[in-house]
Amino acid sequence: MNGRGAFRIPLFDLDYDDREVEAVSEVVKSKWVSTGPKVKEFERKFADFIGVKHAIAVSSGSAALHIAYLAAGIGPGDEVIVPSNTFIATVSMILHVGARPILADIQSLSRPNISVSTVKGLVTEKTKAVVFLHYAGYTDNALEIRKFCDENDILMIEDAAHAHGSDADGLKAGSIGHIAAFSFYANKSLAVGEGGMVTTSDNDMAEKARLLRSHGMTSLSWDRFSSVGPPANYDIKFPGFNYRMSELHAALGLVQLKKLPRNNQRRRELVGVYRELLKRRLEGAVDAPFEPSETTSHYIMPIVLGEDIDRNAVAIEMAKYGVQTSVHYRPVHRFTYFRDVFGEQELPLTEAFGRRELTLPLYPSMKNSDVEFVVDALARSIELLESQ
Ligand SMILES: Cc1ncc(COP(=O)(O)O)c(C=O)c1O
Repeated sequence: MNGRGAFRIPLFDLDYDDREVEAVSEVVKSKWVSTGPKVKEFERKFADFIGVKHAIAVSSGSAALHIAYLAAGIGPGDEVIVPSNTFIATVSMILHVGARPILADIQSLSRPNISVSTVKGLVTEKTKAVVFLHYAGYTDNALEIRKFCDENDILMIEDAAHAHGSDADGLKAGSIGHIAAFSFYANKSLAVGEGGMVTTSDNDMAEKARLLRSHGMTSLSWDRFSSVGPPANYDIKFPGFNYRMSELHAALGLVQLKKLPRNNQRRRELVGVYRELLKRRLEGAVDAPFEPSETTSHYIMPIVLGEDIDRNAVAIEMAKYGVQTSVHYRPVHRFTYFRDVFGEQELPLTEAFGRRELTLPLYPSMKNSDVEFVVDALARSIELLESQ
């Protein structure tokens, strides 16, 4: 089976070719496979691309969030404002550092991210940070959130897992907050299988994140291997983790980083085709959130179905055409753990979005005719359900 699974048009398909194969085989032949020169090169190039002083490569986006929160000094007694419309890791890592997540509603169904107005009412004297997710890659609201955080002496942390290469008025996602976390999971715009990156221009946070990544040790095996000095000459500043990235993943990351601008451009073109066809075929029944944007990474293609359309039934019908769909996201506050521990919470817009959102396929090798096929399958599925 290939990466497309059973679907004619999967949700996502990797842009991998001989360049990735060669990059990985070069590392295998070098016989240095744990963190080493490729990781350092990937960190330097990623930091330059984002426009930050420091990038620290780690083993996953969740690991990046975990050490970003710790490096920002978040801990017991702190409250962190975070969208409920996100992947669970954004929130669970707040719990893992001992702080309390304060789940925020989205601004509207057509702007499904947090805004200053949704955050304002949640600030208390315990608020240490606001986590901003660039939902689907849109940086909409990000600069306003940073300004609000600065005015209120609160840290802004970006979950930039959707936003590789997104830009807000010349600032790249990952350089807007005090510190940011990227994921390079297998379906991300920059994909290495499992991996992540912390980005920041704050020297102290960077140093702490770097130490936390590898047991709090002041040097890595590669540093000791590549310089002649006393054996095992390192110190432990505080307890850390093994969140290191391997050379194999960094080699993939370097090739993927090179491909990213062109792939983001292709995603933009495809989203333009989607928007036009959805308007032509399904205006009134389906809405595409946010305004069209030339500076968005377009990690996913979310749509919001009309109130009376059964989203799950549409997804089942579309699968019959061979089109894979998904949902971003099931609201965090509705999961059992959060209901049990924090009680019932009402975030009506997030709930409506979680009920009506459907994610359509999007990946750089998609053809315009694939987008036409998906929109046709969507229109036919909705028509069929309405006729029943
Ligand atoms: C918004 C968001 N945050 C965090 C993560 C966690 O990243 P990872 O799967 O690399 O741990 C993901 C990805 O899966 C994500 O989409």
